[in-house]
Amino acid sequence: MRVAVIAGDGIGKEVTAEAIKVIAAVGERFGQRFELEQLPWGADYYLQSGVTIPPNGYDLLREFDAIFIGALGDPRVPDNRHARDILLGTRFELDLYVNYRPVKLLDERLCPLKGRGPADVNFVVFRENTEGLYVGVGGRFKPGTDDEVAIQEELNTFKGVHRIVKHAFEFAGAKGLTKVCMADKSNAMTQGHALWQRVFKELAPKYPGITATHYYIDALAMYMVLDPGQFQVIVTNNLFGDIITDLGATFQGGLGMAASGNIHPGKTSMFEPVHGSAPKFAGKNIANPIGAISSAALMLETKGFTREAEAIDKAVLKAVREHQVTADIGGQLGTREAGDYIVNHLHP
Ligand code: NAD
Ligand code: IPM
Ligand code: MN
Repeated sequence: MRVAVIAGDGIGKEVTAEAIKVIAAVGERFGQRFELEQLPWGADYYLQSGVTIPPNGYDLLREFDAIFIGALGDPRVPDNRHARDILLGTRFELDLYVNYRPVKLLDERLCPLKGRGPADVNFVVFRENTEGLYVGVGGRFKPGTDDEVAIQEELNTFKGVHRIVKHAFEFAGAKGLTKVCMADKSNAMTQGHALWQRVFKELAPKYPGITATHYYIDALAMYMVLDPGQFQVIVTNNLFGDIITDLGATFQGGLGMAASGNIHPGKTSMFEPVHGSAPKFAGKNIANPIGAISSAALMLETKGFTREAEAIDKAVLKAVREHQVTADIGGQLGTREAGDYIVNHLHP
């Protein structure tokens, strides 16, 4: 398997180094050859060269079996242009319409919700990843004046909504799950989200073994906190999915714990921790590498390396149970040392 690695900015570089270490080690232990090719794209590269992603960048990425990304975002690039081209650009250009974000609590002590344990926090969020408010359609009129007008359109297409909602139902069916919840804001967004309502109502009856429920996104946020155990699969649009997966990450112990995949089934897909570049933490060897390492496991699992992925998940669980982790989740290790512990506990 050939993997393109974009470590990116800030703590992205540090957590990616640990994820790479783990991928190499698990490959060695199971006799697999994983070829990892580092691409230099990120804020430094952009500030030096003026290039966010080279003209053939997306085609280059398509040649790989998978893509791994650390994080993108740097205070020296206030308009976030490079992240838009590299991260969002890859999601759009490679049509990675499934943003798969599992919310799984590994140990009760990491959960900020009173009395909740791993049995209560174990669901997945499918975030639509190629349209919605992220498409950048709009503009500003008379910018910088008192007459400024700013317009940013939310794009919802039948094809886009249908394929992500269908994916959520198919995933539930394949995993033997029985509940899918769709969240929108169709009470206020009576055009775009009426389409979500239509599609959900059309698809739900095709899955008789699955209970389909709907919440408005504001109520969903409330129920996630109050009673997370009711959820198995949540499907929602691009922006709402972004927001509720940071909330979900807190249930897992914080942003440092959450993993994700940007997936187009059967095509080159991209894996990354949910968190960003956390500039304040950068270069201090304090970032939690587990989100990145679990994203690497997700990548291996998606590519059919099930045993390798399981070995990583088991080592991560052991690190958490033995408190061999970084300070954000109550440990005393640095980023590198936390990665080392996981590397040293990868057993077939
Ligand atoms: P962030 O996720 O970078 O950090 C928010 C806070 O979460 C941090 O201050 C820290 O307290 C905690 N945190 C995050 N990752 C952690 C880790 N691995 N270990 C321990 N604690 C961790 O979000 P932000 O501060 O809103 O954004 C910073 C930059 O990252 C911005 O430029 C933003 O656009 C970008 N960003 C990029 C991605 C991505 O590349 N996928 C995702 C989110 C944000
Ligand atoms: C994420 C991030 C990105 C998003 C930002 C960096 C544009 O927050 O991957 O969750 O909003 O999708
Ligand atoms: Mn986000």
